[in-house]
Amino acid sequence: MSLKKHPIVIAIDGTSASGKSTNAKLVARALGYVYVDTGAMYRTLAWHCLLKRIDARDAKAVAGACRRWKTKLECAEVSGLKAVRLLVDGYFPEKEIRLPETAAAVAHVAAVPKVREWMKKTQRDCIQFGNLVMEGRDIGTNVFPETDYKFYLDATLAERSARRAADGVNENLAARDQRDSQRAVAPLMIALGAVVINNSSMTSEQTSGLLLEEIRKMMSAPK
Ligand code: DC
Repeated sequence: MSLKKHPIVIAIDGTSASGKSTNAKLVARALGYVYVDTGAMYRTLAWHCLLKRIDARDAKAVAGACRRWKTKLECAEVSGLKAVRLLVDGYFPEKEIRLPETAAAVAHVAAVPKVREWMKKTQRDCIQFGNLVMEGRDIGTNVFPETDYKFYLDATLAERSARRAADGVNENLAARDQRDSQRAVAPLMIALGAVVINNSSMTSEQTSGLLLEEIRKMMSAPK
């Protein structure tokens, strides 16, 4: 009898500019796992709504667009990193989802309960591609609450604001934190049992090194 092994999901949640993307990619690369940026999926829906001239503040219209849009998940490998992409009508809007107008619309889209339901199902479907490193705001609490590998990254507001500014983005992170942690459905919070890493004075090399050390400890711990 062959025992089919269940894919592993490493959940990395945290505040904006806490280094989730950089470190999740480093960890995925080191382990050969597939990287999933769930924020990019919410951004893709926000972009789609803008394209279809749907007001992101109109929850009913956004839920309708999410019900109707034609999407497909694919796993692409770029420079040695395997990553999941959400295609809309066969198109991957890589650049468009980073535009300021998309960023301005995404928090509204992400607060719609029907959207979160759709995202959870779609994000869980990513398991078809194998072991995952998935970053977001509600992965350990809501999308894959059953995983043993939960992390929460954070840094001081001053440090996170400085990081955003260094990237040329001037954003009110305090307001963003408040919106992310106070929304009614799946708010940002520390998952039960998550390893919390405050990386205010750490480099990404140190943060990803610590993440990998913790993951290896968890993997070798008797179950
Ligand atoms: O991480 P990001 O900036 O790309 O996220 C974009 C938006 O999506 C942000 O408003 C938070 C939201 N988001 C969410 O609500 N849940 C997730 N799992 C990921 C992102």
